[in-house]
Amino acid sequence: MEATALTDAVDAVRARTDQTPTLALVLGSGLGDLADAADDAVRIPASAIPHYPESTVAGHHGQLVLGQLDGVPVVFIQGRVHFYEGYPVTRLTFPVRLVHALGAERLLVTNSAGGINRQFDPGTLMFITDHINFAFANPLAGRVPGPRTPRHEGALHRPYYDAAWTRRAEAKARAIGLDTKRGTYIWTTGPSYETPAEIRAFARLGADAVGMSTVPEVIQAQRLGMRVLGVSTITNPAAGIGAEPLDHDDVLQVGQQVRADLRRLVRAIVGTVDA
Ligand code: HPA
Repeated sequence: MEATALTDAVDAVRARTDQTPTLALVLGSGLGDLADAADDAVRIPASAIPHYPESTVAGHHGQLVLGQLDGVPVVFIQGRVHFYEGYPVTRLTFPVRLVHALGAERLLVTNSAGGINRQFDPGTLMFITDHINFAFANPLAGRVPGPRTPRHEGALHRPYYDAAWTRRAEAKARAIGLDTKRGTYIWTTGPSYETPAEIRAFARLGADAVGMSTVPEVIQAQRLGMRVLGVSTITNPAAGIGAEPLDHDDVLQVGQQVRADLRRLVRAIVGTVDA
């Protein structure tokens, strides 16, 4: 069933373009318009792709955009869907399986996150070096075809976040004057924000930032053998870390401010990929 679903989706894309992306980008809220910078862009709405999960959030139009960014063949996954929208986690990662089937060998994921590490002020850009799956949902569980455990894949511990790519991206960031951090991201289902007690617990577990996305896509991409790079934008101190109570408008506003930095960072990262 899934194999045919994927074939149907690939066929729908291939009916509109024969571009072969090498890099897929999942851009968090506010960054979607980076796709406007792509040359020869072909936009394919989610509704035109069989089995593609559609966002239930108003104004979040799901689409794939294939094109070239600074000469690199890319595909943007726009309007990501979240676990809290009610989709099973296996469906959330359908876009990742699709872009991989279209040729993408690398995945760049961005998100916004609350800062647990007290040194990460709002506006901090954090490379994700590891994650904690605190949603306890896994896109590889269930009737997804192919081997599911590393035991079957040979390597027991393949990295989830590509260390060499991260180092190159950090060097590029420094070269354009951007200060970045590294840290561990913890995934919670949302949609409610965390309690201060939960954040204290997450700090003890070793998390630096908390958010409601990314981990499903990364687990799926790693399973497919893709190289993964993750960047979190810290938009607010996590619950109980700052003096002020959490306000969704603040999250959106900081997101706006650092958007320019993140946009420069993403383009710099695209420059680390051989065309
Ligand atoms: N918690 C969870 N997700 C988030 C936060 C947060 O504080 N900020 C942005 N996304």
